[in-house]
Amino acid sequence: MSAHKLDGVLVAETIKSQVAGRVRELGDSGIRPGLAAVLVGDNPASRVYVGSKVKTCEALGLHSEKYELPASTTTEELLLLIARLNADDAIDGILIQLPLPAHIEARRVLESVDPGKDVDGFHAQSIGRLVQGEDTLVACTPAGVIELLDHYSITVAGAHAVVVGRSDIVGKPMALLLLHRHATVTICHSRTQNLAEITRSADILVAAIGRTAMITGDMVKHGAVVVDVGMNNVTTTEEAARIFPAAELQSRLAVIARRGATLAGDVEQRSVIDRAGWLTPVPGGVGPLTIAMLMKNTLRACEMRRDLSGRSREITE
Ligand code: GUN
Repeated sequence: MSAHKLDGVLVAETIKSQVAGRVRELGDSGIRPGLAAVLVGDNPASRVYVGSKVKTCEALGLHSEKYELPASTTTEELLLLIARLNADDAIDGILIQLPLPAHIEARRVLESVDPGKDVDGFHAQSIGRLVQGEDTLVACTPAGVIELLDHYSITVAGAHAVVVGRSDIVGKPMALLLLHRHATVTICHSRTQNLAEITRSADILVAAIGRTAMITGDMVKHGAVVVDVGMNNVTTTEEAARIFPAAELQSRLAVIARRGATLAGDVEQRSVIDRAGWLTPVPGGVGPLTIAMLMKNTLRACEMRRDLSGRSREITE
């Protein structure tokens, strides 16, 4: 039997319409949540991500500002911009798109963001509060995965959750969120021995490695919930034929012909779809949730800063 689809587009649309509704309500009191998105350099993927973040703000009625800085920008220049945004009352959330160019001191930059405006949840204070299980702004992708599991009423408490990948952006916060939901959590990474043995024991498997189709059917327990966080470009016919189900291949090849690449996750959908009980597609799984959660975090930051959080319980919990 084929896995049920965990539909990230559907859940993202639900979250975004809740955010838009609350933004309209706040608008009646003259309040408009605002996001500043900062892009340094000309990474094409980052440019696309920042573009869709700003567009989504516009669609939901949030104020947004986009700062596109040259790759030659210095750490000090970036710190000056962030200080200005920290002090700007029209801005509730500040997003510094990663990766930053190598010469920029990324940690110093992220620590300079006002923790109250840290809608990415990357500041040490946000991470510390997350570790302690305190209420805080949480990184958008792992927070989105939790929303997805909640939407489909997937039981996390008591489950063995295996997170493959230990990045600061996804793997680590994902593991903590699952732990706070009372899962037994294992984090795997590039040095893990017997990876397949561990992933096969997962009731919930989150793949956040950044390697195309690395998780194959033989690594998945029958009936497991599999969440694919990977966003990898597949550019050749050979690779596409190896990883995509036959039924999808023609449309995938057409995307490669049109755009030069098609998006694939870290999970080999072709072999996992008949093992897993639940599975996120790529695209259309976790990706849309990241942006939806950024909107929700910006709204939350606005409400926290203006002490309006009590009135938004129904959407933040
Ligand atoms: N680069 C990849 N993912 C993210 C993200 O969630 N936020 C930011 N700021 N940069 C990223």
